[in-house]
Amino acid sequence: MIGSDKVHKILYGGDYNPEQWPEEVWAEDMRLFALAGVDTVTLNVFSWASLQRSDTVFDFEKLDRIMEYVKENGLNVCMATSTAAHPAWMARKYPDILRTDLTGIKRQFGARHNSCPNSPTYRKFSVKLAKAIAERYKDYDNIVAWHVSNEYGGACYCENCAAAFRRWLMRRYGTIEEVNRVWNTSFWGHTFYDFEEIVPPDLRSEAFVYDFDGSIRTNFQGISLDYMRFQSDSMLECFVLEKKALKKITPDIPVTTNLMGWYKGLDYFKWAQEMDFVSWDNYPECDSSPAYPAGFHDVCRGMKDGMPFALMEQSPSVSNWHPYAKLKRPGVMRLWSYQAIAHGADTVQFFQMRRSQGACEKYHSALIDHVGSEHTRVFNEMAELGAELKKIGAATLGTRTHSKVAIVFDWENWWALEMSAGPSVRIDYLKEVETYYSALFRQNISVDFIRTDSRFLAYDLVIAPLLYMNKEGYDDKVRAYVQNGGTYLATYLNGYVDENDRVLLGGYPGRQKDIFGIRVEESDALPPDESNRFIYKGTQYPAEILCDLIHLSGAEEISTYESDFYAGSPVLTKNRYGDGVAYYVGTHSSEEFYATFLRDICETLFIDPVLNAPLDVEVRCRENEENRFIFILNHKDTATEVRMKREGTDILTDRNYQAGDFVKLERKGVAVIRLK
Ligand code: GLA
Ligand code: ZN
Repeated sequence: MIGSDKVHKILYGGDYNPEQWPEEVWAEDMRLFALAGVDTVTLNVFSWASLQRSDTVFDFEKLDRIMEYVKENGLNVCMATSTAAHPAWMARKYPDILRTDLTGIKRQFGARHNSCPNSPTYRKFSVKLAKAIAERYKDYDNIVAWHVSNEYGGACYCENCAAAFRRWLMRRYGTIEEVNRVWNTSFWGHTFYDFEEIVPPDLRSEAFVYDFDGSIRTNFQGISLDYMRFQSDSMLECFVLEKKALKKITPDIPVTTNLMGWYKGLDYFKWAQEMDFVSWDNYPECDSSPAYPAGFHDVCRGMKDGMPFALMEQSPSVSNWHPYAKLKRPGVMRLWSYQAIAHGADTVQFFQMRRSQGACEKYHSALIDHVGSEHTRVFNEMAELGAELKKIGAATLGTRTHSKVAIVFDWENWWALEMSAGPSVRIDYLKEVETYYSALFRQNISVDFIRTDSRFLAYDLVIAPLLYMNKEGYDDKVRAYVQNGGTYLATYLNGYVDENDRVLLGGYPGRQKDIFGIRVEESDALPPDESNRFIYKGTQYPAEILCDLIHLSGAEEISTYESDFYAGSPVLTKNRYGDGVAYYVGTHSSEEFYATFLRDICETLFIDPVLNAPLDVEVRCRENEENRFIFILNHKDTATEVRMKREGTDILTDRNYQAGDFVKLERKGVAVIRLK
């Protein structure tokens, strides 16, 4: 996949900016890369200004030299198109390239990721540049991937975007009557008679600052939701335009762009359909739970139905933009690199190779620090990992993960749920998803993240936390899945609205009432210092955030509330439907509750962890027809051991283990066992 026939190992390296340095330094870089086992560099990420000095004058002289140098030194290249930051002269000459922000202010030149996605100037020049780069370097056989732009994101509210939004609406809805219907514009007298009356929902229009917490809210969910879709689509069009230009010239080089993890602004599932492989940038805070990056690795794997992805960036040690640039402790960079591989990454890449001398990332960690030599802890750790990855070679490349549990995730649902204006400011999609994911993660049960239109049949258990939006046909799909023997779990605020945030009438959860055998009549939003309680298998757990008041219509209650006027009414229910089961969790509870409840459900479905391991020792599996690899990752600060169920060999140490033997791991240690 990533560079396909050209790549025979886990690619190792990352963002390299030789253009920021005099040429004497390049030779030293090459010496250090060889020492560190670096085999791949990402070039040309932010060079537009130096590559193009006017409408017609390109200057590739420096990049030519860099490309030659890098090739002579045997390095692969992940080649960026440089379109993530436009040149200052272009902004001055063609102001339409500048974005207008949410407040309605037209930006000036500055920062990066700063171009309006609907600017004719941007579209014209970005494609022209991508084309010129592809033409110039097409014969370099060490280019393993095209890296278009960089971390797309943000939004624009300018006149060009407004006009493009109207065209987007015409294509989607056909008539102004239909727009009025789906946006429910009879509310507050918003009826539109002409597409020209529609303006972007910025702070001069539907958006406003919510007094309570300073967050941005909207008066019209339908409009704002469509604007988010439209902006995501607009940037995706920019990506596709460049991609097409590249593909015309180099049809065999895969094209990607680096995603930003749990980034809300773009519908990454939709984007992934256009990417040859998915890649992402992993920057967890030093103290974040290991479940946090693990979850997004699993999303990346899910984006292309299990295909391995690239870890395009991570930091060798500190990320200077974190509030506290805490050092990655010894062993952590290695551990997190293997975690990415364990979840499906086929590359380990970093930002950055050499620490820059000035501007806002000068204190971001790098392979080569300001001291300029190999005599640093970070360099040594990276060199050790580089050597290990050489030893692994091609063994794990292309191997897949097989999960029996899936979590449904959906960007449009995320947008709609959190702009819904009620019932609570505590509604947090990611937090709820993480709650379920973490409970399974800690039990070493592998999870796939899937789309609402993915196939469910391969899974024994499908969990849909806070899936507020019931897209057309989704309920039928769930119905069929459960009828055929699947187990499905949904939560409070499930299935309330359609794609336009219009409530599906007839009682909640909309079209899914029969599947769960319940009806939710009211929901009680509790402030942070209040909670209800319920008892599950003899233990009492809190009911927080939202408490659904549920009527049974076929389901059995598993547990009821303990207090308040709805004491005794169901909070957890189970419905046998066809050959399957549908669980409903009518509130948010504690980590302990999810651990127990999900373990019980998994047990009834015979879903087991790969190996039994102590808490905070992660075990994952990747396999193909020939091989099965077990990754054991010790996230603890103390040594640990895990008992093997089958015979195998650690491909890092060549140590053999018989069934029943203990694999011993030091703090933050890793083992990769190839099973016999
Ligand atoms: C992002 C960007 C890089 C760099 C790093 C720093 O991921 O893509 O250009 O700014 O962050 O962490
Ligand atoms: Zn714009």
